Amino acid sequence: MQMAEFGAIPKGGCNRQTLTDDDASARRSFIGWCREIGCTVEVDRIGNVFARRRGKHDGLPPVLVGSHLDTQPTGGRFDGVFGVLSGLEVLRTLEERGIETDHPIEVVNWTNEEGSRFPPAMMGSGVWAGVFDLEQTYATTDKAGRKLGEELKRIGFMGEREAKPKPLKAAFEIHIEQGPILEAAGLNIGVVTGIQGLRWYDLTITGKACHAGPTPMNGRRDPFLAAWPILRGCYELADRYAPWGRVTFGDIRAKPGSRNTVPEKLEISVDMRHPDPAALDEMDTQFRKLVDAECRSRNLAGDVSELWHMPATQFDRSCVDVVRDATDALGYSHMEIVSGAGHDSLYVARVAPTSMIFVPCKDGLSHNEEEYAELEDLARGANVLLQSVLSVASAE
Ligand code: HGY
Ligand code: MN
Ligand code: MN
Repeated sequence: MQMAEFGAIPKGGCNRQTLTDDDASARRSFIGWCREIGCTVEVDRIGNVFARRRGKHDGLPPVLVGSHLDTQPTGGRFDGVFGVLSGLEVLRTLEERGIETDHPIEVVNWTNEEGSRFPPAMMGSGVWAGVFDLEQTYATTDKAGRKLGEELKRIGFMGEREAKPKPLKAAFEIHIEQGPILEAAGLNIGVVTGIQGLRWYDLTITGKACHAGPTPMNGRRDPFLAAWPILRGCYELADRYAPWGRVTFGDIRAKPGSRNTVPEKLEISVDMRHPDPAALDEMDTQFRKLVDAECRSRNLAGDVSELWHMPATQFDRSCVDVVRDATDALGYSHMEIVSGAGHDSLYVARVAPTSMIFVPCKDGLSHNEEEYAELEDLARGANVLLQSVLSVASAE
């Protein structure tokens, strides 16, 4: 709740977008809390923050836990934050109990997981895993034209540490499910086996600006004439690939954006997802064909530019088993689940054995100020995280 004060907005959620002053305050608080229990803290070149608790054999590869502190523009208080602060709580608990682990443990706050202000999402973990180019991410601009690299410098989080992976023993991320499955099933824990694939596009439909008054309806090259059948066709596409197919249009802008000018063009953000790579590819092909057909027949120009493809991820089986065994040992009910949301763990999984732990959230709601999770559910999740970390942090 203290973390939620940074970027707090009227309905109780947070607008703490990446690299804003609120994000900077959140980062500094997190660092302060980690230092209070003796952690050393490093920041890498993309602003990822690593707080380290030394191990008995400090040269061994660390166990990594953590998530992200940045939020959506109308985000909640738990998405990402739960994962970072549960990691801190694990370290506090070990300190309080005087438990030394053979392997060191690091808690990470990844930069720009949300990808809302600066696309793509999972940017900090993606640079760290070698998927995104650091200089290119520095040059990314937000809607106000501010550059990511300059914002990182401005808030004082362009660190010295190379934004590259170091060997890790294992990595665990805990997160609210952000969907309705666990709550509907009445289960305590989601043992996450993987993350569904996604593609992000910028769809631009260009026609011709003209006067809203004297121009007859049939004399217009109005981009909306193609947009509405395209959007309807995409919802039908998601239906054809039910129950997992997803299509979302989160941001639609008309240019020039004047009430009495028929738009010259529409810029539409598209987020398309499916856990099966073949199905996602088919959805991609059908989407492109739909845009082409609906634009060409109306003498409009349709352009689909894919700005990000995140392939489906399978987590390391041994790590998934560690989470399930910890959950069983604690006597919590659980099920295996594929994550509908993307998480930094998808990039961490490229360089180290990784898995995730889900807890239910109220009405499966997230990316909404009303996002909520019960304290008991959060505590059960943090216990699974602690036991999972302990089971891999010993040297044998
Ligand atoms: O888009 C996602 O799935 C994540 O919440 N950033
Ligand atoms: Mn998240
Ligand atoms: Mn999110």
